[in-house]
Amino acid sequence: MKVTVIGTGYLGATHAAAMAEIGHDVLGIDIDADKVARLNQGHVPFFEPGLPELLQRHVVSGRLRFTTSFAEVGDFGDVHFVCVGTPQRAGENAADLRYVDAAIEALVGVARPGSIVVGKSTVPAGTAVKAATRVESVGAELVWNPEFLREGFAVQDTLHPDRIVMGVSADRAEKVMREVYEPIIAAGTPVIVTDFATAELVKVAANAFLATKISFINAMAEVCEATGADVTELAHALSYDERIGGKFLHAGLGFGGGCLPKDIRAFIARAEELGVDQAVMFLKEIDAINLRRRARMVDLARELCDGSLAGVRVGVLGAAFKPNSDDIRDSPALDVAVAIQRAGAAVRVYDPEAMSNARRDFPTLAYAESAVDACRDADIVLHLTEWAEFRTMAPERLGAVVRHRKIVDGRNALDAERWRAEGWLYRALGRQ
Ligand code: UDX
Repeated sequence: MKVTVIGTGYLGATHAAAMAEIGHDVLGIDIDADKVARLNQGHVPFFEPGLPELLQRHVVSGRLRFTTSFAEVGDFGDVHFVCVGTPQRAGENAADLRYVDAAIEALVGVARPGSIVVGKSTVPAGTAVKAATRVESVGAELVWNPEFLREGFAVQDTLHPDRIVMGVSADRAEKVMREVYEPIIAAGTPVIVTDFATAELVKVAANAFLATKISFINAMAEVCEATGADVTELAHALSYDERIGGKFLHAGLGFGGGCLPKDIRAFIARAEELGVDQAVMFLKEIDAINLRRRARMVDLARELCDGSLAGVRVGVLGAAFKPNSDDIRDSPALDVAVAIQRAGAAVRVYDPEAMSNARRDFPTLAYAESAVDACRDADIVLHLTEWAEFRTMAPERLGAVVRHRKIVDGRNALDAERWRAEGWLYRALGRQ
């Protein structure tokens, strides 16, 4: 089948390569000509494990290419996937839909009658039904097919998803979508066919649930701090109850990234418009608990530095919002680094992959070329993103370069006993 993908960010670039992998001829489009040129040479402009190999393979085979021309997209495609971003609107909680609207309008101008337009972007409920009217006006059909991929596992999640959700209004669109995903469905992936609003809500509700689970355990961390309990042991004990499970029950600095924070805020904003704000009011508390963890991290660091961060040298390990990603959107690690610097500390940051993004967006922070360099002469070390490189680091290696052996583990991911055995003062969120 001939498939196009509009937008080549984490979602679009991965989706385009995955569509080529399952046998389609794929044309990706982006407004950024530089990015398109790099993609056509087989280069992925961000860090995503496994994606460079997949993209390269299909660019070389000729099954995957990229353009900046919508006319070409219209001529080429039987099925068009809209994979553009829906960031938080500046100064508001609501989602900014300008890129989705622009993509739909551009497709309306070029799509052939009978073609299928598939929305994958995360949008507020009610977006698809409006888009459908526009798409149907040129004899094409709309499907809403949310994407659930996690950064760092984007290739795996796209090729082997937990489920495929399709919001449709016509049988033909469903039939075409089943053909598009045929190899994935044949491998046993469940397919849920539903209406537009439910399809849109599945994505938003899934992210709201995941955020709630993380904030739940982080709220318990606050209680643990007040009672002398240990949140990691609490979570471990809870996880054996199959109804609860251990995933997304990892207490620490909380969630960040380009999805969970802005998606719960957009959900609140949309619920207010719909007059059902009470139904999702709890999400405001979920957001607040999440942000309090960042403040607690700064307070804990201050506490360990005798009540003041002024003039303190701080080594920061991690800048990405989570490991295996170079994404720094709403990164708890950088938020903490900035707050610590504002409190008067001299901060040096190191991250295995997110350095150039961090340097670009936070030019006033100081950066180091390695974990050891970031921690040289440090009075305190803050572990803020749990990269394997940090989790497996020998405490004595950092111990040899720091001024004081003090570390705060913002991700509850280091082996406390090992660090303490090397003479470190080890503290973590939600534990003594
Ligand atoms: C998320 C959803 O998982 C995905 O399904 C959706 O499509 C997009 O949003 P992503 O943003 O890539 O994916 O990251 P995810 O792995 O979900 O982690 C989100 C944040 O929560 C990270 O900052 C992570 O560090 C934090 N987290 C995750 C915790 O603090 N504790 C946990 O137990 C799990």
